[in-house]
This record gives sequence, structure tokens and C-alpha cells, in this order.
Amino acid sequence: MKERPVYDFHEATKHRIEAFAPGPGFLDWATQPDPFRRYAGARLIRLDTVAPTDEPRYDAVFTPGRLPAAAPVNHHTISQLFYDSLALSAWKSTGASRWALRVNASSGNLHPTEGYLVCGPVPGLCERPLVAHYAARAHGLEVRAEFDPERWHTLCAGFPAGTFFLGLTSIHWREAWKYGQRAYRYCMHDAGHALGALAIAAAGLGWQTRLLDAPGTDELAALLGTSQPHEAEPEEPDLLLACMPAPVPEPLPAAEGLRSFAALSWQGSPNQLSPSHVAWGIEAFAARVRKPHGAIAYETFAAPPRSWSPPARTVALRRIIRQRRSAVAMDGETRLSRDDFYRLLDRTLAVPGAVPFNTLPWKSHLHLALLVHRVDDIPPGLYLLVRDPAQRALLEQALTRADTWVKPPGCPEQLPLYCLIEADTRGAAREISCQQDIASDGCFSLAMLAEFDAPLERYGAWFYPRLYWEAGMIGQLLYLEAEAAGIRSTGIGCFFDDPMHEVLGVKDHRFQDLYHFTVGGAVEDARLTTLPAYAHE
Ligand SMILES: Cc1cc2nc3c(=O)[nH]c(=O)nc-3n(C[C@H](O)[C@H](O)[C@H](O)COP(=O)(O)O)c2cc1C
Repeated sequence: MKERPVYDFHEATKHRIEAFAPGPGFLDWATQPDPFRRYAGARLIRLDTVAPTDEPRYDAVFTPGRLPAAAPVNHHTISQLFYDSLALSAWKSTGASRWALRVNASSGNLHPTEGYLVCGPVPGLCERPLVAHYAARAHGLEVRAEFDPERWHTLCAGFPAGTFFLGLTSIHWREAWKYGQRAYRYCMHDAGHALGALAIAAAGLGWQTRLLDAPGTDELAALLGTSQPHEAEPEEPDLLLACMPAPVPEPLPAAEGLRSFAALSWQGSPNQLSPSHVAWGIEAFAARVRKPHGAIAYETFAAPPRSWSPPARTVALRRIIRQRRSAVAMDGETRLSRDDFYRLLDRTLAVPGAVPFNTLPWKSHLHLALLVHRVDDIPPGLYLLVRDPAQRALLEQALTRADTWVKPPGCPEQLPLYCLIEADTRGAAREISCQQDIASDGCFSLAMLAEFDAPLERYGAWFYPRLYWEAGMIGQLLYLEAEAAGIRSTGIGCFFDDPMHEVLGVKDHRFQDLYHFTVGGAVEDARLTTLPAYAHE
């Protein structure tokens, strides 16, 4: 079977109650990776810090057709895009320790994801086309290469005026240092969080993002400069986005000429992040799931999900984005109203045209198995949100533990949510999420259940990381939705895969659990001091 390496890797990186996936088992502080990559010798373009504004409203940017008018692309708005997606959001400190948090969430706060800008001339930013690495700590762009206008015209041919490109790469070692082999999964979750963060920040400026998935991974490496030889930890290219301040052309142009970027004069040397490393086989696996060149005829929804269109709130998008934090503990008390619960789930549906899922060219492949603990007026138990309604019959076959498939009380007709088992699931939630109390002490926790056999069979091994990107994107949205509802959430990468499958009665690989989340009332850690992200704020 052509996807065998994916199945082998996926099985090998499952946490089992009797044994965690292969990992170091301790933290080797002497080799702790530097969380900030810099390219020494590359010119730094400083970006503005842009304080959050009341407009646009949070709910507006997620409502198809209600994006704000497109802002002009210039130094200030490019600054704002990065400030609201990949920048630092705060520093935390206790005693002599100090660490930065970012707008995009990352497993263990290790931040393997690096961001890149590829653009033509931008007023106030650059007169010549360039490729730049985003340096989060400095909130600036390191110019890796400048290039000729002809090359730019080839790259952006067919895209609307003002289009630029955003790239994401992963430094797997940052996560592998702590988590070993399973770290690859977390890197791909994190890439999905960053992808979601970029799509949502762009929407706040009235810009639209689309994944450009015709180029192969090798072409991305040429474009972003990560194929240039160096001695530091490798950066594996993940994805390329077009960011467009204008209506999106259909079909999307191909973005040509990427390979030719390898011949540019690249500036700057990447810093070494750790003095020594442990090999976990991740680079070899990542090489096996690289996407080959070629446009893909993606499967689209047979019947797209529909929104219940709950009433809009007054909260401001950019405040929610920059105040997002993980709960480190949940209070075990806070309850969520039924309508807020339904509203939050509604937002995770890839309704046609809705940000951020309209960035992805394929239909949703993930469903949410919810362990509901404290939601008013609906019984605790196991629920399923079917994010692609056409999968309902297959899910009914595969989830053999379901008692019923009934819609809970008051559930909007459009929301494909079903109660499968009425039960107190707090104990199960805690056990399955590696005995973490946050999974049982929230209002609800959830498992993201991915269609697995079918998309891997249809597209090939390279689709495996893309399932995680969708999971991370849902995760970034859940974080923001929890903030908008006045509560908090936390991504949970540590869970026991097959025990969760047993709870659902999943007995094969038609569906696999890829990511957990918890949502509830947070307990603040009073020992920590919070400092501004950038000193002059
Ligand atoms: C993919 C992923 C997996 C995570 N897994 C866990 C987890 O198992 N347990 C936990 O307490 N937090 C988990 N987190 C939360 C991170 O530790 C948190 O995002 C990080 O410390 C940064 O803090 P912030 O989210 O407040 O910016 C996870 C986050 C992500 C993105």
C-alpha cells in the first residue's frame, strides 16, 4: 500500500496507556532549543506594533460576505498582519525565568513554525521584490533575498494587484527536543494554528487567503530559501498562501517559477538553536510525505454545512486575537449556556466562504467528538458534530458505541450535532487526555476525529500533514471562540489514541483521533507576572 509509511508512523507515534510514544522521557536543559530563529547578516526591516482597534467586530470577519473593505497593502498593514498572527503577545515571568507567548498557539510553547513573506514592491516596506523571514522577537522582516521584477511578474501572474505570498516552515527539532517522535504531529498542529492565525488576521484587513497547493514541497524550499545549505537545524517547508486584497480569481493561478529562486543570492546565516541533537527519524518521515508538484482535483462537499447565523456580538476581533491564551487549569465549575455552546460549534463549520476554512481547497475531513461536562440544559455525555454532513452514514457505521443519534434540546436545525451517549464523561476525558485535569474540569473537551483511510487513499501520503493543518486551524478558532465567549481553552496534544477510539467504538482506520481540546473557566496562575510583548507597548 502506497501510504504504508504513514500508517506505520501514525501507529508508532500513538500514546498508549502502557507506553508513551518514543521520546526522551526527560528535559535535557543543556540542549533546550532557542525559540527564535534569526538569519545573522540579513537586513532587518522593522515593523510597527499596531494596538488593537474596536473595528472590525469579531463576528463580522467570520460571516461570509461581511469582510471589512480591503486595506491598502503597505508597511503599516503588513506590520498589522504579522502583529495579529505570528507576533509575540506577552512575556511571562516567575523568579528568574522569562518566556514569550505568541498570538499563534504552539505545543509546549516551543514554536517550531517560522513565517515568510514573498512580495513585490510594497509602499514603505520595500522598493524591490523580496523574500523575508519574519523574526517574531524583533517583530521585523529579515531580508533573505531580493529579486528582479520579471521573476515577480512570473510568480504573481494572474493574481489580483496587491497579492503577496506567505510561507510557513517547521523546525521539527524544537518540538522533538521535548516530545521525541510524536513531535512531528505537534509541528503540523502548530502549522495549522499559524495558518488559521494568518487567515483570520488577513480577514481583519479585508484580505483573503488561499492555500497554493499546486507547487511541490521542493519548490517551496527553493522559494523560501530553506534548501540553501547550512549547518543549523533544518527548516522543512510546509505551505504557501496567497494573500489577496481583492476578489479571488477562480481558478487560482498556479504561481510559476518557484524553482528558479534557488539561484538567488541568499543573505544571512541561520542560528544554531541547540548545541547537540537527538535524531527521532522525523526529517526522514517528513521527506516521505513531501507533496509532489501538481494541481490537485480536491474533493469538495456533496452538501456543504450551513450556518445557524447566531446574532452578532460587539467584541473586537483584534482584542480577542491578542488576548488569546491557553488555560493552564480549569475551575471545574464554570458552565456554558446552551446557546453559547451551539454558537461556538457553528463557528467550526466550513460554511462556504467562511474564514478561515475558505483558505483550504479541500472539504472538511474532521469531525468533533465532544465530551460534554457542564453545558446548561443539555445532558452530559458524548456528542458528535458531523462537520461534513455527507459522512453521517459512514460515521454511524464506524462509531459502534453510539446508543442514539438524537439532536440535543434546542439545537438549531442547521447544526449537525448529535448526542450519542448520555453519561458523566469527566473520568474518561481525564484518563484519555493523559490524565490531565484540564480535560475534565472544563465545560467540555473534544477529540478531532479525522477521516483517515479515504483521503490518504485518494491523495496519497502527502495529505497526512494536511489533516493536522485542518485540526490546528479548528484549534486556533476554538481558542478565539472561547475568548469571545468570556472563557478559555487549551489544545491537548497528549492523549491516548486507541483508548479514545474505544470510547467511540472505532475499530479500524476509517477514522482516527488527531487532536484534543478543552474549553472552560480558567484558573489563573497567580505566581506568574505578565509583561508587554514589546517593551514600548
Ligand atoms: C498542538 C498543541 C498541543 C498542546 N498540548 C497540550 C497538552 O497536552 N496539555 C496542556 O496543558 N497544554 C497543551 N497545549 C497548550 C500549549 O502548552 C500552549 O499553547 C503553550 O504553552 C503556549 O501558551 P499560549 O497558548 O497561552 O500562547 C498544546 C498546544 C498546542 C498548540
